[in-house]
Amino acid sequence: MDFLPQDVAVKFRERFSAEPLLVRAPGRINLIGEHTDYNDGFVMPAAIDYGTYFALAPATDGVTEIFSLKFNETFGLDLDGEIIPVKNPSWVNYLLGVIHQLKQHGRLKPFKCVFGGNIPIGSGLSSSASVECGFAFALNELNKLNIDRQKLVLIAQWSEHNFVGVKCGIMDQFASMMSKKGHVILLDCRSLAYSYSPFQLSEHSLVLCDTRVKHALVDSDYNTRRQECERGVARLQKHYPEVRSLRDVDEQMLRNHEGEFEGKEFNRCLYVVQEIARVQSANHDLKNNNLAAFGKKMFETHRGLSELYQVSCEELDFFVDIAQKHTGVIGARMMGGGFGGCTINLVRNEAIDEFITALTKSYQSSFGKEAGIYRVALENGVSIVREHDLNMIL
Ligand code: GLA
Repeated sequence: MDFLPQDVAVKFRERFSAEPLLVRAPGRINLIGEHTDYNDGFVMPAAIDYGTYFALAPATDGVTEIFSLKFNETFGLDLDGEIIPVKNPSWVNYLLGVIHQLKQHGRLKPFKCVFGGNIPIGSGLSSSASVECGFAFALNELNKLNIDRQKLVLIAQWSEHNFVGVKCGIMDQFASMMSKKGHVILLDCRSLAYSYSPFQLSEHSLVLCDTRVKHALVDSDYNTRRQECERGVARLQKHYPEVRSLRDVDEQMLRNHEGEFEGKEFNRCLYVVQEIARVQSANHDLKNNNLAAFGKKMFETHRGLSELYQVSCEELDFFVDIAQKHTGVIGARMMGGGFGGCTINLVRNEAIDEFITALTKSYQSSFGKEAGIYRVALENGVSIVREHDLNMIL
């Protein structure tokens, strides 16, 4: 079930009879640069108009309580006690990791919290990063800790690594926190230097097509990919001691030592090295307004993710195949961690309806499943929702 800021606010007032601070934390898309962030490469994400919404206020009874609208469940905790991951309910761990880190910046006041959102879970739109980022931002505000946004990004990522157990890169949390409406971010994941580019599509739109599948073992496969890249780097370091990550490697260096890699390591590294270069040249395409060239690179990324990095699945490949055969689609690829979730498609405006119909029909007839379709707008990063904004939504 989907929840909007007003649902969260209403529920908060009903449960706690107080006026909350309301925070909106968006999900994200990524135009290009997949599985490059934890290899010190480049990514091109943007926040979207789907999010997680938090309502918070200091607890007058001194008891901290967090209520998840999605799970219809309350979790109570003692902020002064030891903060460690819990087995049940697992949704709490995203938040506990944030509390663990924020406590190192000052004492946290007991609080009440209600949260919920409308990001489809498991669709590659980073609902988890939005939960971590929104909560970190809200507690920072409530306790006047004055932690800057970039530091909050790292706190959110720390929570995912240490309390959730996914060794993710920095992209999702960065996009949720730092995005700018109507723009994409070009982020250097090594230095965290970033710039915004206006994203004007004029005759095209972004359409996300959700396979609505999430295959098992996703998190452990994600961590395995990361390890394979790290092993590849370790092998290359014997020959090139200056190499710190795949960012420092080019295709020739890899090919010179192809025989020394084990298992799938070579393919994994090859994909990443190609993708890091591809993002840089896609950035030039964008600057030159050459959407056709940009779209072609999206298809290339998909091929790499599917064949070399092997994080796609039958359903995602099926979607990209349909897109590639459709004259109205100039670029498409799977997006996010993979093994299910969405494809991102660059579609000519006049072809959108027809493309969506063709895709949903063939998915239904070939897989017996209903595709999710989201047309997204690019939004600001985490922000406070004012009463005025709420009235506009109502
Ligand atoms: C997930 C991770 C990100 C990134 C993408 C793949 O979304 O959280 O850090 O690695 O997968 O690009």
